Amino acid sequence: MLIPDDKLLEIKDAASIAEVVGQYVKLVQKGRNLLGLCPFHSETKPSFTVSPDKGIFYCFGCQAGGNVISFMMQYHRLSFAEAAQELARRYGIPITFKDLGPEGAQRAKKRQTLQEIVTQAASFFAATLKAPEGKAGRDYLEKRKMTPEVIRDFHLGFAPDEWDGLKRHLTNRGLSLELAQDAGLLVAKAQGGYYDRFRSRVIFPIHDRHGKVVAFGGRIVGEGEPKYLNSPESPLYTKGRHLYGVPQAQEALRKTETALVVEGYLDLLALRVHGVANVVATLGTALTREQVRLLKNLAPKAVMVYDGDAAGSRAMRRAFPLFAQEGLPVRVLPLPAGMDPDTYVFAHGPELFDSPWEAAQPWFAYLLDELVKEHGLDIEGRVRISEELRPYFQAVADPVEQALWLKVAAERLEVDEAALRRSLTSLSPITKSRLSPVKLDVNLEKRLLKWVLNHPGAAPVEELEDWALDLEDQELQEIMALIVRSYREHGVLDHGLLIQQVEAEPLRQQICALTLGEEELGGPSPECMAAHWRRDFRMRRLKKAQQDLKARVDQAVRSPDNEDLMALLAQQQEIARQLEALKQVSTTKGEDG
Ligand code: UTP
Ligand code: MN
Repeated sequence: MLIPDDKLLEIKDAASIAEVVGQYVKLVQKGRNLLGLCPFHSETKPSFTVSPDKGIFYCFGCQAGGNVISFMMQYHRLSFAEAAQELARRYGIPITFKDLGPEGAQRAKKRQTLQEIVTQAASFFAATLKAPEGKAGRDYLEKRKMTPEVIRDFHLGFAPDEWDGLKRHLTNRGLSLELAQDAGLLVAKAQGGYYDRFRSRVIFPIHDRHGKVVAFGGRIVGEGEPKYLNSPESPLYTKGRHLYGVPQAQEALRKTETALVVEGYLDLLALRVHGVANVVATLGTALTREQVRLLKNLAPKAVMVYDGDAAGSRAMRRAFPLFAQEGLPVRVLPLPAGMDPDTYVFAHGPELFDSPWEAAQPWFAYLLDELVKEHGLDIEGRVRISEELRPYFQAVADPVEQALWLKVAAERLEVDEAALRRSLTSLSPITKSRLSPVKLDVNLEKRLLKWVLNHPGAAPVEELEDWALDLEDQELQEIMALIVRSYREHGVLDHGLLIQQVEAEPLRQQICALTLGEEELGGPSPECMAAHWRRDFRMRRLKKAQQDLKARVDQAVRSPDNEDLMALLAQQQEIARQLEALKQVSTTKGEDG
C-alpha cells in the first residue's frame, strides 16, 4: 500500500466515479447504475457499468473492473501512485511524498534522479554534436539535409566514438551509474563497471508531452547493425505510450487540427525541414491504443503517411481498428512505391502535405483498394476480401458510417448488400466467445459473497469472519477476508477501497462482477439469507467431516489396531444425526430454501 487508506478515501470521495469516467465514456442512467460503451474493448451494445453508490465500474463484456483510481490506471496506463496523484491534483487534494509511504517516496525519488540523468545525457549528446568529436554526426546530418533550426528544436545530438564518454560526464556530475543503467544509457560489464550504450551514433531524444526527455534513439552514421538503437523501457519510458515529436508539433497540431503520423525519426524531421510541423512519429513499432489516445488529445483527426511498401501498408491496416475504437477519424496518404515521407518530400516538395486531410483517402476505401490488389476480384478473391473486411467493419462504431461503407464495399465487390451485411456482421467463433458476458457461476460460495457485497451490515462481522474460514475457493476466501478488514478498520464496507486493496486483477474483476452482477429477483430478506447461509455452511462442514471420517473408518477397518473404530463409528452416527436435523429444518422452513 503506497498511499494511506484515509488519503485514498479522501480522493475517492472527491473524485466521483461517475464524473471521472463520464469525461471519457458517454454514460446513461439505468436504474441505480450508469451504462456506456466500454473503453477497454470494442463493443456496440453497452455492457460497461458504473455504480456511483459503490464507487466501482465493471464491464460484463471484457471483465475490466475497479474503482475510480483503477479506471485512471487502466485508461491512461498509469501506475497506482500516478493515478492517485493525478486525481488528487484534479480535485485539489494535497499529497506529499510522505503520503506515498516509504516505498512510494523512494520510487518517486528514483524517477526524479532518472529524469536528471537522461536530461544530463541529452545535454551531453547535444554538446558533443557541436564539439570536435561530433564531426561524424554533423556530416551525417548534413548529408540528410537537416537544418540548424531542426537540429536545435529537436535537440539532436551525437554519442562520441568512445566507451566511456557519457559515463565520465555522469560521474563528474555525481550521478548514479546504476540508475544510468536503468535508464538504458550504460551497460554493465561482466567484470564490473559500466560502458556507454550509445557510441558513434546520431542521437534523437524522445520527449514526453511536456517536453521532458524520456528516451533516446541513435542512428548509426555508417553501415552496420542495428540501424537504430533505442532506449529500453524504464520507469520514465514505456514503449507504445509515447510518440516522437509531440511537444514540437503541438502548436501546429492545434492550428491545422490534423495530425500527420509517420514511422521514422528522419521522416518527421525531413517534413519539418520543409515547414510541415503538424507531424508525429511512431518509431517503427505497431501503433498502440495508448498512442491513438495520445493523438486524440492532440488533434481531432489523423492522417497516416507510412512507407510506400507492403510493410507500410500492413502497419497502417493494423492500426485502423484502433482509430475506429477510439473514434478518431483517420485517413491514409499513400506514397509511391518504394518511397518514405523523407525521400518523397525531398523529391517532390511539401505540397501534398498542405491540406493532407483533403488529399488523403478514407481508411476504409484504402483498405478496400489494398485488399482488391491483394486478392483480385474473382469469386474466391471477393469471398476472401469480405472475410478480411469483417473485423474492420465490426470495429466501426457508428452505424451510419457502417451502412455507408457497406454500400461502398457491396458496389466494389458487386455483391448483394444484404448478403454482404450478413457476412460482415456475423461473429467469428473467436470474437463470439471473447465478447460473451461473464458467466456468474452461481455456486454456494459465490452467492454468499454476492449477498454479502450487496447487503452491507446484514450479517455481523464475526459471522463473516467465520464464513471466511469455510470458503473453499481461495479467491473468494481472500475477498471475504478483505471485506472483514474493511468493516473492522473503517466500520463500513467500502467497495472502492476494497478493490484498492486487491493486488490481483482477476480478484478485482471478481469483486466487481459479484457486486454489479444481476440480482436474483424477489430474493429472500437478509435475515432469511443469513440463516440460510449459516445452515448451508454448517451442512457443508458436516458433509466434509463425514467424508473425512469415512476415510478414517476405511483405514481403521484395514488396520484395526491404529484407531478406535468404535469411537469413529459413534462420531459418524452423530454427524449423520446432525445432518438429518438440518435437513428437517430446511424442508419445514421452505420459504428461503
Ligand atoms: P525505417 O527502416 O523505415 O528507417 O524505420 P527510416 O526512418 O527510413 O530511417 P533512415 O531514413 O533509413 O535513416 C522506421 C523507424 O523504425 C525504427 C526507427 O524509429 C525508424 O525511424 N527502427 C528502424 C528502429 O527502431 N530500429 C531499426 O533498426 C530500424
Ligand atoms: Mn528513410
